[in-house]
Amino acid sequence: MKSSPVLHALRLATGDLHREIEAESRVELRLRDSATRPAMVACFLDFHRRVEAVVEPWRDELRDGGFEVRPRVREMREDLERLGGVDEAGEVASAAPTFGEALGWLYVAEGSMLGGRVIRRGLLQDGVPLTGLGFLDPWGDATGDHWRAFVTAMESACASGRVRQTDVLKGGRDAFKLAFALLVPPRPIESAA
Ligand code: HEM
Repeated sequence: MKSSPVLHALRLATGDLHREIEAESRVELRLRDSATRPAMVACFLDFHRRVEAVVEPWRDELRDGGFEVRPRVREMREDLERLGGVDEAGEVASAAPTFGEALGWLYVAEGSMLGGRVIRRGLLQDGVPLTGLGFLDPWGDATGDHWRAFVTAMESACASGRVRQTDVLKGGRDAFKLAFALLVPPRPIESAA
């Protein structure tokens, strides 16, 4: 894949938020532990459900640009059911007002699968049962192709002038902020004493 200016810009614009989530969410730990896994999976389901609502009106535009959005919510709900978890459907996010913002949101959802594969591999190596964790690696060996198709579609939408890069960056940051709000547990209140 040729280098992508918009991908580079997205990484610069959102790298701090990704690092904060990695440092504070304890995602891997909460998925390892069978006691905390259902609630963690429910948080991811909530996140992806909202991303799908944000992106939904732009599905045809994405398809025309060569990228097929594959919904994940049904499979994630099945993952959660396997774990006996509760789907606490949160509020549904409103649709992205611009195609560029929708691309930024999708960048976060699609990119999270690259990290998901790394987390899954770590659990597998340690012999941790993977029940209910299919959502971490939904595309398996096709992940790389799927990711490249997304980046190519995003890049050509920006290069064509149909999409403003600032919108893409806004969408990416908004999606990461939502991920932070949903996936990072609240900090305990420190006593003043
Ligand atoms: C503890 C939790 C996480 C870890 C350890 C982690 C780790 C990683 C790793 C290792 C990659 C690079 C994978 C590769 O290049 O093959 C990656 C990429 C990415 N992750 Fe995460 N991640 C975590 C959580 C998240 C979350 C919650 C989101 C968003 C919902 C997210 C969004 C992304 C994105 C957008 C990329 C693609 C970056 C790019 O290539 O431009 N990650 N993550």
